[in-house]
Amino acid sequence: MSIFKKLKFLWEILNNKNLQEYCNFLEILKKRMPDPNLRNYESKLIHAMYLLSADLAEKNGMKIGSNTSIEPTVIFIGHHNIEIGDNVVIGSYCNIRAVDEKIIIGNNIMLGQFVSIIGANHLCKDKNILINAQGVESKKIIIHDDVWIGSNSLILPGVIIGEGGVIAGGAMVTDNVEPYHIVGGVPAKVIGKRT
Ligand SMILES: CC(C)(COP(=O)(O)OP(=O)(O)OC[C@H]1O[C@@H](n2cnc3c(N)ncnc32)[C@H](O)[C@@H]1OP(=O)(O)O)[C@@H](O)C(=O)NCCC(=O)NCCS
Repeated sequence: MSIFKKLKFLWEILNNKNLQEYCNFLEILKKRMPDPNLRNYESKLIHAMYLLSADLAEKNGMKIGSNTSIEPTVIFIGHHNIEIGDNVVIGSYCNIRAVDEKIIIGNNIMLGQFVSIIGANHLCKDKNILINAQGVESKKIIIHDDVWIGSNSLILPGVIIGEGGVIAGGAMVTDNVEPYHIVGGVPAKVIGKRT
């Protein structure tokens, strides 16, 4: 479906002009959204945007599991290298960028708002060459199941977050996080454990 047709389709369903298509739309939403209660115009619009953003991401080669909810303002770069599991919630304005290596987000994961997951660094060590001429170095990022990432945190290239890890709001995660550890701060250090 072209983007024009998609917008027309959204316009129609938002105005309830095509009831059957609207019902189909709700069925698709139920698979995508933890809470598919559409009560008013505004929530219909938001839900339509959820569907559209996930749909576009998948069409660009991103893998998205079931019951995973991606807020419309999330930025993805390198869709074909991004995999997201089941029951994942990605909050507003998250910024997820894969370059040559994968970013793998497991199952039952919550990302707050403005979380950045950045899969590459610009090479910059040689002061005699412009940074933008030195190339980039990509590293795989893996976020295992049952992880909660607080708002405004930054996950750097190469980081592996173990199962059950918690990343405090505003953390700069430069190193791997052990399973069930809670880390926070800049750079992130262990501030607690889930017991
Ligand atoms: C990590 C977090 C869950 C810890 O909550 P908590 O268990 O109530 O922790 P406490 O307030 O008892 O703090 C425990 C220690 O961690 C430190 N700490 C707590 N939050 C921190 C943070 N974001 N960054 C750095 N250190 C933090 C506290 O200063 C305290 O240190 P101390 O023992 O030296 O005094 C919480 O502080 C947090 O960051 N939540 C993120 C909220 C968010 O982003 N929500 C998005 C919506 S999904």
